[in-house]
Amino acid sequence: MSTQAIHAGWDAADGDHGAVAPPIFATSAYAHPEHASLKNLFARKCEGFAYSRSGNPTTAILEDRITALEGGIGAIAVASGQAAVTIALCALLEPGTHLVASNRLYGGTTEFLDDTLQDLGVRSTTVDPWDLGAWEQAITEDTRVVLLESIANPGAELVDLDAVAAIAHARDVVVVVDSTLASPALYRPGEHGADVVVHSATKYLAGHGTTLAGLIVDTGSFDPRRCPERWRRLTTRNRRFGVTFADEHDSDRSGLLAYARAKYVTDFGATLPAASAQQVLIGIETLDLRMPAISQRCEALAQRLDGQAGIARVDHPSLAHRRDQEIARRDFPRGTAGVFSVQLDGGEEAAAAFCDALELFTIAVNVGDVRSLVCHPGSTTHSHLSDTQREACGVTPGTVRLSIGLEDLEDLWADLQRGLAAVQALPTPADAEPAPALA
Ligand SMILES: Cc1ncc(COP(=O)(O)O)c(C=O)c1O
Repeated sequence: MSTQAIHAGWDAADGDHGAVAPPIFATSAYAHPEHASLKNLFARKCEGFAYSRSGNPTTAILEDRITALEGGIGAIAVASGQAAVTIALCALLEPGTHLVASNRLYGGTTEFLDDTLQDLGVRSTTVDPWDLGAWEQAITEDTRVVLLESIANPGAELVDLDAVAAIAHARDVVVVVDSTLASPALYRPGEHGADVVVHSATKYLAGHGTTLAGLIVDTGSFDPRRCPERWRRLTTRNRRFGVTFADEHDSDRSGLLAYARAKYVTDFGATLPAASAQQVLIGIETLDLRMPAISQRCEALAQRLDGQAGIARVDHPSLAHRRDQEIARRDFPRGTAGVFSVQLDGGEEAAAAFCDALELFTIAVNVGDVRSLVCHPGSTTHSHLSDTQREACGVTPGTVRLSIGLEDLEDLWADLQRGLAAVQALPTPADAEPAPALA
C-alpha cells in the first residue's frame, strides 16, 4: 500500500524530461501528428487524449494510482466527490429504475437522491444499514443499485458490506460504496463485494484541505453481460458513440467507466483540473502514514468524551453501545478514520457554545484535513433534510461533528475540555429567572 501510494501510475522514466514528481499537464487540447489519428480517437478506435474535458495525462496518473490502491480495473477522476456520486449513479440508473440506499449518508448525497435523481425518473428507498432484512425487502425487480458509505458521515457507522453485497448480487444489483472516510488505507470495499467505489478525494486522499476532487473506481466484479436486459445502455449499440460499451474492452472490463466518461464526464463537464490531480497525488503519498495516526487520535478522544457531563452520546465504532463494534474489529484493523460525532444534552445552544469555545479546532464543513475541524451538521451539511431523515442518520439539534487531524493528542483534548467547560457554563433551566406571577 505505502509503496503503491508513492509509485503507482508514475515512473520518472515515463516523462520526456525525467520529472521525478508527476508533472501538471496544463493544456486544453492535444496536438496530433495527422488528421487520421484524431479521427480514430473520436471513432473510439484507439486510446489517447484529444481535449482535457474528458481526459488529461496528470489526471490519468491519479486514475491509475487509485485503481492500484483499491485493487480495481480502472478509475475516472472528476471535479468533486459530489460529481463522482452523480456520475456513477447516472451511468448505472436509467429512468424507471430504482435504488436502495443506506439512510446513513452524507447530506449532499441524500439531497441528490431525493431531488435531482427523482427529477431524472429514478426512485430511491432508504433503509437502516444494519437491518439485513430491510435491504432484502427494499430490493425490487427495478432495483439496479444499492448505495452505502463504508464509514458513514457523521456518526462513523460501519456496515457489514459482505452481507449486504451478497443480498444485492443474488438479485443482480450493483453495489456502489462511497469510501470517502475510510480511504483505501483503512478499507478496500472491493474485497468485501463492492462493484463500484466512489471517493470524495477532497477529504483524506488530498488530505490537506486544499483541493476538491472525486474518484470513481470499477473493482471489476460487475459484468453487464451477465444480465444484458438489465443493463441495456451498456449491452446494446450506443447510437451516439457507435459502439457497445460492454463489448468494447477486454473480457475483464465492464465498459461502465468508458460509458461514464464518454457520456457523463463529457456532458456534465465536471472535469478535474490537472493541478488538482497533482495535489491529490501528493496527498496520497502520505495517506498510509496519516490514516492510522488520525484513527488512533480519534478513538482516544471519542473514548475520553464518552460519559462526560453534558454529553448525551458519543458516536464512534469503538464504544460499547455501538452495534458495529464487531465489524470494526473484523474489517477495520487499522482504525476507522478521524470523523465522529457527539450529541450534547443542551441542543443547538450547547453545540454553538461548544464550537465557539474551541481554539485549536476550526469551525468548517469539511472533514479529512490534517487540521482538526468541527461543525454543527443540523444547521449545515444536513440542514436541508427532513427531521425524519436527520434523525435516521443520527443528527439531532445537539450533534456536533468532529474531524480529527494530526495535532498533538493532548492539545486536542485540552481544546475539547474548553468546549465542555463552555457547555457547563451555560445557564440551566433552573438558573433562569422565575416566570412573573400571573395577575
Ligand atoms: C461521504 C461523502 N461523500 C461525498 C461527499 C461530496 O464530496 P465533495 O465535497 O468533494 O463534492 C462528501 C462531502 O463531504 C462526503 O463526506
